[in-house]
Amino acid sequence: MCGIVGYVGGRPCRDLLIAGLEKLEYRGYDSAGLSLLENGRIESVRAVGNLANLRAAVADTDDRGAVAVAEADATIGLAHTRWATHGRVTEENAHPHGDCADEIHIVLNGIIENHSELRRDLTADGHVFSSETDAEIVSHLIERHYNDADDGDLTVAVQAAFGDLRGHYAFVAMHRDHPDMLVGARQECPLIIGLADGETFLASAIPAFMRETRAIIQVENGEIVTVRAGEALVIDPHGTPREHEVEQVTWDDEAAERGGYTTYMMKEIHEQPDAVAETITDRLPEVDEVDMSELALTPEMASKVRRIIIVACGTSYHAGLVGRYAIETWARVPVEMDIASEYRYRDPVVGPDDLVVGITQSGETADTLAAMRLARERGAHVLAITNLMGTQATREADSVLFTRAGLEIGVAATKTFTSQVAAMYLLGLWLAQVRGKIGPDRMAELIAEMKALPSKIDETIESSDEKVRAIARSHFEGRFFFYLGRHIGLPVCLEGALKMKEISYIPSDAYAAGEMKHGPIALLDETTPVVCVANDSPVLDKVLSNVAEVRARGADVIAIATDGSVRVAEAADQTIYVPRTDWVLQPILAVVPLQLLAYHTARLLGLNVDQPRNLAKTVTVE
Ligand code: F6R
Repeated sequence: MCGIVGYVGGRPCRDLLIAGLEKLEYRGYDSAGLSLLENGRIESVRAVGNLANLRAAVADTDDRGAVAVAEADATIGLAHTRWATHGRVTEENAHPHGDCADEIHIVLNGIIENHSELRRDLTADGHVFSSETDAEIVSHLIERHYNDADDGDLTVAVQAAFGDLRGHYAFVAMHRDHPDMLVGARQECPLIIGLADGETFLASAIPAFMRETRAIIQVENGEIVTVRAGEALVIDPHGTPREHEVEQVTWDDEAAERGGYTTYMMKEIHEQPDAVAETITDRLPEVDEVDMSELALTPEMASKVRRIIIVACGTSYHAGLVGRYAIETWARVPVEMDIASEYRYRDPVVGPDDLVVGITQSGETADTLAAMRLARERGAHVLAITNLMGTQATREADSVLFTRAGLEIGVAATKTFTSQVAAMYLLGLWLAQVRGKIGPDRMAELIAEMKALPSKIDETIESSDEKVRAIARSHFEGRFFFYLGRHIGLPVCLEGALKMKEISYIPSDAYAAGEMKHGPIALLDETTPVVCVANDSPVLDKVLSNVAEVRARGADVIAIATDGSVRVAEAADQTIYVPRTDWVLQPILAVVPLQLLAYHTARLLGLNVDQPRNLAKTVTVE
């Protein structure tokens, strides 16, 4: 995921900016760059690959005559690590990006949704682009407004450009004629001001400048900020000043690596809104259309697919299960699910009419790769859903759909799971679109619900965390957790039970609620917490009957329900509400309290949630 660092102050800032980028490396990136302004000239250096390549390119600038960069005297600049979304991984596509006159440079995180129409419009107006990115649009838009207003006010030009943009992003701009200021804007993606004596930083995360200052201001959504050495002015989109408290960061270095959270897992749980937004935003460019043009699988090929087979392991398998319901409901294509390690050894019947989807966040799971290879050898089109570029899965596949969750360090998958589920929803909607199974009105409804998911995940974390912690306190010494659900609630239960096993080491099991009477009900007594996924759905009545059966055995029922569902609250002992959305999309919200339940239970037991015993983040052996 991309990272931003900006500086304005009294010190030479080239090396400060590169040091800031180093602190953002954990987010993952494929190229990097910086721009420095000195003596009325902006000079840039960009490089594909890691920061060592950027440093080498900086060292080479003597030959290119980039004086500000080579001599490192500039006291204002911008820097960026890029994780490609629009446009290939090339030096031209790395940030910063300039305008036509090379007077304005910008760095951007996130995605501009309406980039195609803005690019068309700016090109018609004579603007010439030098990259394939959506980000470059921002420098040209600022240029247009700056020149049109002809008042020399960079903040006003940024404010006007901000009004033209749709999407999920944060950016920072610098102008050749304003060597004393940077202007930034935030819409969903983080942007933080770091204030020190006579100098100011503007970055996408606090660790980028924490070695220099701990006094911060969090820029909020819809705000524009103008920073000068040691000062910051924040305004709303209409130009009205906003007051912000300066906060003091109290993290130690280790906590800083974890963004202030006690563990990576908690940090990653909180990164889920961002991870899902990054995964879906630019693939939903219109109100009623899914864009999958990045796949080698064409709409013509997709409309002829007779069957889909999903292969994966562990948590990724659960994401596939959610995907199965979504694809069958929306696109009406039959979907089979297989655990990759089973699939590869059962001589499967698979061929050219099949689409095989391999889901693997690491892109290196041996069994999933072997299953994909086998299917490909037998003529199926293989689509990989993965979170990491350049991994083996991208080479074993015909098409690749990247999730954009950023690097996940906690061994127990959280944000990669919700991003995989989001990717499966995109695939389901796209298949429905190309096969003509969903009309434009219904598609627009579902896309609107998809776009609301990041803020609903955020709401779920905020509203459920305390309550879940209290529930964990009542049960953390228990000997067994049972999870029950039906239909699309079942994969949520399977994932909740896996999280509980992995990090708390408490035995747990998940069952299709209808199967309970066929055996597992014998396990229940008054000491058993039973987690029931009981979101509003066509099968809610059936789930409530199962809840009644469980309670009749004295078990304590913890229900996950849709906001306002009184019936569930009446039927269960404890109810955790998640926001309302289309019922097929509920799993991406319902899983969050289950991640938190496993998390708090494990923490109360004093366990290391980031590195559970016996587990590895990447399983490269069978
Ligand atoms: C559980 C977990 C594992 C992985 C599984 C597959 O929290 O992380 O179950 O989901 O090992 O890994 P990938 O997705 O890398 O193929």
